[in-house]
Amino acid sequence: MKKYNIAVVGATGAVGRTLLRLLVKEDFPISELTLLASARSAGRRIEFRGENLIVEEATKDSFHDIDIAFFCAGGAISKEYAQYAVASGAVVIDNSSAYRLNPEVPLVIPEVNGDAVDNHRGIIANPNCSAIIMLMALKPLLAISPIKRVVFSTYQAVSGAGNKAVSELEQQVRGYVAGSIPEAKILPSSSDDKHFQIAFNVLPQVDVFADDYYTKEELKIIKEAHKILNDETIGITGTCVRVPVFWCHSESLNIQFERFVSRQEVRDTLMNAPGVVLYDDPDKQIYPMPLDYYDEDNVYVGRIREDHTVIGGINIWIVGNQLRKGAATNALQIARLLIDKGLLL
Ligand SMILES: NC(=O)c1ccc[n+]([C@@H]2O[C@H](COP(=O)([O-])OP(=O)(O)OC[C@H]3O[C@@H](n4cnc5c(N)ncnc54)[C@H](OP(=O)(O)O)[C@@H]3O)[C@@H](O)[C@H]2O)c1
Repeated sequence: MKKYNIAVVGATGAVGRTLLRLLVKEDFPISELTLLASARSAGRRIEFRGENLIVEEATKDSFHDIDIAFFCAGGAISKEYAQYAVASGAVVIDNSSAYRLNPEVPLVIPEVNGDAVDNHRGIIANPNCSAIIMLMALKPLLAISPIKRVVFSTYQAVSGAGNKAVSELEQQVRGYVAGSIPEAKILPSSSDDKHFQIAFNVLPQVDVFADDYYTKEELKIIKEAHKILNDETIGITGTCVRVPVFWCHSESLNIQFERFVSRQEVRDTLMNAPGVVLYDDPDKQIYPMPLDYYDEDNVYVGRIREDHTVIGGINIWIVGNQLRKGAATNALQIARLLIDKGLLL
C-alpha cells in the first residue's frame, strides 16, 4: 500500500493532537510525518508511534514533498500558508473557516456530500464542527420529506474554543473549590473585548457578533449547511451557547418538514444512517449526553418526538464529539476518500 508524507499544521493544538491520536489509532499509511506549529512550540517533542518527533515552526517552505497537509491552526494561518502547500503539490485539508465559503473549495462531510471532493483544486475545507454534527442527522432525514425550516440551539463544549479554553474552565473550577475563581481571559471569544466566567455559567455567545447580531458561529452553521446541502431554500436559524462541558457539542433541533412526519419514521431513518447512532428510549431514560463520547466518532441522536404545535414538526437532540467527527475524524475521512477515489497522486 502506498504511504504518504503528511504535515499537520497546529500539531500542538486541540484538533492537531486529536488528529495525531487518530492517525495512530487508524494506522493511516504514513511515510513521513511533519509536525508544525508556531515559533512558540518549535523544538517541542511529541511522541508518535514510538518516536519522538520534533515540532517545527511553520513557514512557507515547510511543505516540500508533502502529499497531504492538515491545517489545524486557525484561519489566519491557513490563509498565510495553504497556498504554499498547494504550490508544493500537497492537498490541503483545512479545519479553519478560511476557505469554507469559497465557491471553488469543496466543503465536505463524506457521509453527506463526499462526491464534492472530485473537483477540488488543492484545498478541501472541513466544515464547522456544529454544522457537521447537525448535518449528520439532518441529511438522512431529507429522504423522508423536504424540510422547510430548522431551528437549532447548541450547547458547545469549551474544547471547541481550543486548548486554552479547556485550561480556563479547569482553572476556574479548581479556583472555585479553593475559594477564588481566576479571571476569565478566553471565553466567550479570545478576540472580543470582554471575557466571562464559564464555570457554573452558560455563555450565549460563541465567536464574535456579526452586523445583524448573530454570532459568526451561528452564521457559519447556516451558510455552511446551505452550501453542503446545495439548497438555500431551507430556512435555518438558531442560537449557539457555550456550556461548562469539556468535550462534545450537543444540539437541540426543531425541524419542520413539508408534510406530517412521525417519530417512528425519523427513528427508522436515523437507525440506518451512516455515522449516526440512535440512542433514544425515554422509557428507560436513554438519551445522548456529552460525557459519554470523549472517545467516539459517531454522532448520537435521541429525544425524538413530534412537535404538536406545527404540522411536520419534529424535535431531536444530537450529541457529537466536535474534536473527532466535528474536526479530526472528518478530515481523516476526507483524506481516505481522496485515496480511495485515486485523487491523491
Ligand atoms: N476545537 C475544536 O473543536 C475545533 C473543531 C473544528 C474546527 N476547529 C478549528 O481548528 C483550528 C484549530 O483549533 P484548535 O481548537 O485546535 O485550536 P488550539 O487548541 O488553540 O490550537 C491552535 C494550534 O495552532 C497553532 N498555531 C498558532 N499560531 C500559529 C502560527 N503562527 N503558525 C503555526 N501554527 C500556529 C498552535 O501552535 P502553538 O502551540 O505553537 O501555539 C496550535 O498548535 C481552528 O481554525 C478552529 O476553528 C476547531
